[in-house]
Amino acid sequence: AKPKVWVARPLFPDVLARLAEYVDVQAEAVERKHSAAELREKLAHVDGALIGLSDRIDAAVLEGNQRLKVVANLGVGYNNLDLDAMSKAGVLACNTPDVLTETVADYAWALMLAAARRMGAAERWLRAGHWATSRMRFDDWLGVDVHGRTLGILGMGRIGRAIARRAAGFDMRVIYHNRSRLPEAVERESGATLVGKPELLRQADHLLLVLPFTVANRHAIGAEELAQMKPSAVLVNIARGGIVDDAALAAALRDGKLAAAGLDVFEGEPVVHPDLLALDNVVLSPHIASASEDTRRSMARVAAENVIAALGCGEAAGKPPTPLNPAVMSHWATRKA
Ligand code: GLV
Ligand code: GLV
Repeated sequence: AKPKVWVARPLFPDVLARLAEYVDVQAEAVERKHSAAELREKLAHVDGALIGLSDRIDAAVLEGNQRLKVVANLGVGYNNLDLDAMSKAGVLACNTPDVLTETVADYAWALMLAAARRMGAAERWLRAGHWATSRMRFDDWLGVDVHGRTLGILGMGRIGRAIARRAAGFDMRVIYHNRSRLPEAVERESGATLVGKPELLRQADHLLLVLPFTVANRHAIGAEELAQMKPSAVLVNIARGGIVDDAALAAALRDGKLAAAGLDVFEGEPVVHPDLLALDNVVLSPHIASASEDTRRSMARVAAENVIAALGCGEAAGKPPTPLNPAVMSHWATRKA
């Protein structure tokens, strides 16, 4: 019999068709977050799954599961996966790196420019009819410049480097902080200089957060960090909710300690902190940085190819393209049917 694969989110029909060449597909037709109990039940009866970032895979979900071999995450960040628990259970985890790097970097720039130039508030004002009925002044709607300023990047992975490369066209100085220094050749290509976190906070005119979410990175930007930033600075979070203390950020934006923010991710999303919703100097979007037509299709395809290959099918049988814990595969012969 063909392996069984659960697709937890509605997905592009051509990607489902590609999966169906090799596996029995059980595809959800409706978008929703699954509880641990639902995940446990669904995953007990399949060999593989494609899941969304709101589906959390941990030891409790996998307990007693003798069948599941592979879970492909529809995204590059994988803080929803407990990799240790998955490895212990012999389950391969895969994500979707690389294919979304440039699209997410584009979006980081879109949010930075929109927040710096007050595009969200200006559009709301125009749509409300105020332009025609008020006398807009020469000194209304003043934003902060992006070109010629200092761009700070916290977290310098593939996406951080793609953001940095774009800064050359804006004549920006680029500084970054990262756990480790980039190789010299990569630093040169990115045009970026390593600084300590305090310098990054103090010097950045525009601070972009591109960190993975880990326990250590929770509230990497909180009240204390925000207090070190320039009152004229713009903060952009395209990484994960929880890296920023959203309540502290809202307070800083309200009190004039920060000029503006652009946020694509939130603590507790899809619910957004009411204090952020009440502010005009923040541009908000619903976690869509990777959502271009081409890139979301590529992400779905990469997830599908990982599952197909992990289940021993297709041209790349046994060699999934982007595994996170590939060592588990060497135990499959003995542990799983
Ligand atoms: C989106 O947030 C992703 O991790 O791909
Ligand atoms: C992952 O976080 C990346 O930067 O690609």
